[in-house]
Amino acid sequence: MLGSATAWAADSANDGSSQPDHLAVTQSDFGQTPDGEKVQRYHMTNANGMSVDVITFGGRIQSIELPDKNGKSTDIALGFDNVKDYIDHSSVYFGATIGRYGNRIAGGQFKLNGQTYNLPKNNGPNTLHGGTKGFDQKVWAAAPIDTGDRVGVELTHFSPDGTMGFPGNLAVTVRYTLDNDNDLRIHYSAVSDQDTVINLTNHVYFNLAGAGSGTVLDQVAMINGDRFTPIDKTLIPTGQLKPVSGTPLDFTTPTPIGKHIHADNPQLKYAEPDKGGYDFNWVLNTQGNLDDLAVRVSDPQSGRTVEMYTTEPGVQFYTSNFLDGSFKGAHGHKLGHWGGFTLEAQHYPDSPNQPDFPTTELKAGQKYTQTTVYKFLPE
Ligand code: BGC
Repeated sequence: MLGSATAWAADSANDGSSQPDHLAVTQSDFGQTPDGEKVQRYHMTNANGMSVDVITFGGRIQSIELPDKNGKSTDIALGFDNVKDYIDHSSVYFGATIGRYGNRIAGGQFKLNGQTYNLPKNNGPNTLHGGTKGFDQKVWAAAPIDTGDRVGVELTHFSPDGTMGFPGNLAVTVRYTLDNDNDLRIHYSAVSDQDTVINLTNHVYFNLAGAGSGTVLDQVAMINGDRFTPIDKTLIPTGQLKPVSGTPLDFTTPTPIGKHIHADNPQLKYAEPDKGGYDFNWVLNTQGNLDDLAVRVSDPQSGRTVEMYTTEPGVQFYTSNFLDGSFKGAHGHKLGHWGGFTLEAQHYPDSPNQPDFPTTELKAGQKYTQTTVYKFLPE
């Protein structure tokens, strides 16, 4: 359970064993990076027995404990219990804040104001999730939040001009807060001193039956998106928006995740050539309206549900196609293929190279904002 025995010794009162049954946030040590940077964990609780842990390494959601319909709690977020595992398995991005650019940029290159910017390629020919050392690998500065009806943590990070090839000094803030309606709200803001591109998201994987309990194939998803952005074999959008109707990507009505996952469909083959899996960007019908339901996934067995609301135009629904059970996560659980799903609220992949997609440009001095709410049931 513990990240580093010594680091944790002083904080044993905060290790979850004495969870308050009201809105509260506590802080404890979560070990350190190989460079000696100290990592903190912020533990938020609410009156419904729900808790969320965020660590400052990668601005990550490390754990989400949620009771089932009978009141039995389990951790429904895939994570690790120490910094070393997060570093050793960085390519799964468990729970991470992703930046500067979520998902792929084709050929590791884009043009802005007539200038070409080159980024490190870390996913075949492309740049994925901000490059070789994205926001998921940074230790963020942190301060607790307590507004009376929400508790949480504010994370800040300064990304100097040229980081991973992106222009502009960028100051980023991510606020995670929890309330007694079981809303986990993530609010992002950022300002750059030069024109740049930005696409922040969170890469938490959910398994509503419990992390490590098996696959999510029987969990039932509804994605409020009539269209998706088709991809090529390197998972770069072709630039079209195509209807999901008549395809295995149609989740406009609640459908078990596994129902069509083995369909003989060329797009599914690109996402996961062998076993089947989803890894696509849906064009949300909600059009940035935070009040409208974007996604709902339920586990009929446990009665647990997650809903997503977002100001973003898209969502990457990814069924952990590259997990293969070769390593263990927190609680000693093996994490296998389809062991979780992500709901990454985002602008569409490769937007800097796709003039017809909603823009991801951020002008110098303007404020970027993004809000995504994961709402958990039962309350
Ligand atoms: C991407 C996947 C990628 C995964 C990395 C997802 O956001 O869409 O293609 O493999 O992140 O864990």
